[in-house]
Amino acid sequence: MEADSDIKTTPKGFHCTLCNVNLPNVPSLDQHVKGRKHKTLSTVRSTRKSQEQHSVFVSGIKPDISQTDVAEYFQQFGSVSDVIMDKDKGVYAIVQFSETDSIQATLSRVEHRMKGLKLRVKPREKKDFKLIPKKKNDFQDLQQVLDRLKPQLCQLMSVDAQMLYLVERCQLGENEKKARGLLVQLLQEVFVEFFPDSHILPFGSSVNTFGIHSCDLDLFLDLENTKVFQARAKSTPEQAGEGMSDDGRSEDSILSDIDLSTASPAEVLELVATILRRCVPSVHKVHVVSNARLPVVKFHHRELNLHGDITLNNRLAVRNTRFLQLCSGVEDRLRPLVYTIRYWAKQKQLAGNPSGAGPLLNNYALTLLIIFFLQNCDPPVLPTVDRLKDMACEEEECVLEGWDCTFPSQPIAVPPSKNTQDLCTLLAGFFSFYAKFDFASSVISVREGRALPITDFLAQNKEKEAMQEEQPTKTHHQGPKLGPLNLLDPFELSHNVAGNLNERSHRIFQRECQEADKYCRSLQYQRKSTKGKSWGLVRLLTPHGEVPHAKAEQMIISIPFKSASLPEVLRDQLHRAGDGFRLLWFQKVCSAAEGVFQSVLRCHLTPSSDAAFGRDTAVDAAEEMETASSSFNTSMNDSCDSVESRSETSPLGTAVPGGKRPLSSGSDASASPQGKKPRLAKRGKPEVPHWICAQRHMVWAGRRKVRRELIKDTDSRPEGSCMELESQVTDHIIKTEAELKDPLEFKVQPQMVGETESTKAVLKFEPTSDKTGVFHDFFHFLEAFLPKMVETLIEREVGST
Ligand code: UTP
Repeated sequence: MEADSDIKTTPKGFHCTLCNVNLPNVPSLDQHVKGRKHKTLSTVRSTRKSQEQHSVFVSGIKPDISQTDVAEYFQQFGSVSDVIMDKDKGVYAIVQFSETDSIQATLSRVEHRMKGLKLRVKPREKKDFKLIPKKKNDFQDLQQVLDRLKPQLCQLMSVDAQMLYLVERCQLGENEKKARGLLVQLLQEVFVEFFPDSHILPFGSSVNTFGIHSCDLDLFLDLENTKVFQARAKSTPEQAGEGMSDDGRSEDSILSDIDLSTASPAEVLELVATILRRCVPSVHKVHVVSNARLPVVKFHHRELNLHGDITLNNRLAVRNTRFLQLCSGVEDRLRPLVYTIRYWAKQKQLAGNPSGAGPLLNNYALTLLIIFFLQNCDPPVLPTVDRLKDMACEEEECVLEGWDCTFPSQPIAVPPSKNTQDLCTLLAGFFSFYAKFDFASSVISVREGRALPITDFLAQNKEKEAMQEEQPTKTHHQGPKLGPLNLLDPFELSHNVAGNLNERSHRIFQRECQEADKYCRSLQYQRKSTKGKSWGLVRLLTPHGEVPHAKAEQMIISIPFKSASLPEVLRDQLHRAGDGFRLLWFQKVCSAAEGVFQSVLRCHLTPSSDAAFGRDTAVDAAEEMETASSSFNTSMNDSCDSVESRSETSPLGTAVPGGKRPLSSGSDASASPQGKKPRLAKRGKPEVPHWICAQRHMVWAGRRKVRRELIKDTDSRPEGSCMELESQVTDHIIKTEAELKDPLEFKVQPQMVGETESTKAVLKFEPTSDKTGVFHDFFHFLEAFLPKMVETLIEREVGST
């Protein structure tokens, strides 16, 4: 059976050759084979096969022969169902018959003549149908390039030499640059016919000094002058020049159909696409992507095998490309670093979204991360953008769309760096810098060359809205879209260039930096192998594929600080807490986690004997902070008041057994404001707060089914949020399922980390009595359930205050 022949057994499970995916076990294999992707590809393959079996390949046609001519000629051998012509050159065709018998009849004719032409007719070649996804293709290309480079790289004497060699082999060659230049020139000539006085300007990797052989050609079509031209032509037609009709429109121009002052960007882009399709030789696969952040026309140039993007309103990109060119000119070490890190990121599948959009870093963002690292070296390798601005002269002042884009036009204006570190050290430094970086609580500013506290941005949009109301005539840009990695554009300060990253890609990026950091500390990185083994860059750039990252299993659940998903009220509170925001947020997490155990999962909680980490602990820790600001204290007191007012109840308003104060709101020695260490850590070990929990029912088993039933059953459907629903699910299980023979008891120790790594709350679990052996199942359930419920509870609690 064909489906069976697609599946190969591998040491790690199965591999579907049709879809090119690995499947770890039989259930996932079954699911895959029944899934949409596999089914669609199977159907496409059978259709292709059937087409192959029903068709012949015809060559020797001339471009003036039409599809109908071909169909009419081949009708004599049987009913023709389709004719596919080679669109551009019209020199071959595929003729498809309704019956396979017609193939034999056609092929048995010794000579085919049509309209004086001698045709060559052949059976179709049998090609194996294979799915080659674009991303995999790039990746495989890269792999092949590395395989070719490996022997030479290994022979070089130093990592520095390896990095320089990589640049030499990957960079755009002079001829490639010339070819790109000629295409830009051709496009300029074509577009100016339709858009008088327009300019087409390249930006991005083709011209920013970081281009590689296959990189895209990014273009900005500047229509500002065309708008002026149109306006002038409308008001004074006689001055608008030759070729203009009485109504001020060019007679032979497509532009005559469009008024740029009123046309929407989508309409203009459609027009650009039409011009590309009709007037630029060798350009094909033209399509408009209008739902992108910046709508774009995409095309491919066949002869140059080049993908191109044309955008409108993208003056800032041209300017930031100039900025990258300047940085390269100022600092020779930048290019080898960028090429190497881009290569590394591509190998690890961290950067380079296929087709532009996706959850990975884009190359521009990655380059800015490198620049930021270089600004933070000691002494700095590159100056901050603010410093560059000071080095510019008056004529170089530049403001675009309200953003200050001033910097010197020539590298000579920038004094050389005092930093003398070699490339090998800087590369290792990059990984080490981001391996420890606290992304969750920082906004990276290349403009200022420092990490800004996230709290400055939490309430920004509200403040901007208020300012806009006060001064409606002035433009107040909205704050950046916050996410797991916040990296401000150096000029457009409201744009987070890594705003597309999701939690997963950010986590993988940091984990890969940690892996690379570890490797760069080894001798294999620093020293050439005397035995001819891979060393230096080669090992760094080799994909580790399925490298197991699993460490010895730790019973830890992390709840990351996600600024973007916090409720507005809490964002305000954290904003006001300034440096103390971590502690305040940790307090909320503890309070919510306690609520999940107690009120949602109906665990029995006993306060720990050594410490109750309620208000006092939090306040003590806050007071211990060496330089806690007054705003921090104020906000701590604010939040503690709210804790106190609930002191006899749990955060959910339910009674805490024994009327004890809630256990939440703890602090820990590792909780410290940016740049400061709490004194607590110095003074011996503080008591570690924890909860002792007991669970009598397997409340994690069969939850989905109970939830589904509760939702279906309108009579017992709970009112309110998912928290009520989840509590009811637990109650239902407790009511209907038998108690565990021996209750499961476990200890939970919350701890806050941050500053030297991404801010998060870490809950450490330890079973203290698990006679029925259910703790592992419970823990795995909690891994997904707890972080989600904590988020919900925080939202709810904050919303109700
Ligand atoms: P890319 O991320 O595509 O970078 O952005 P690149 O250097 O051109 O790399 P490849 O080879 O095409 O992948 C292209 C340009 O778009 C602008 C920048 O000018 C960048 O150089 N850009 C990109 C922005 O202005 N802001 C962004 O958020 C992203």
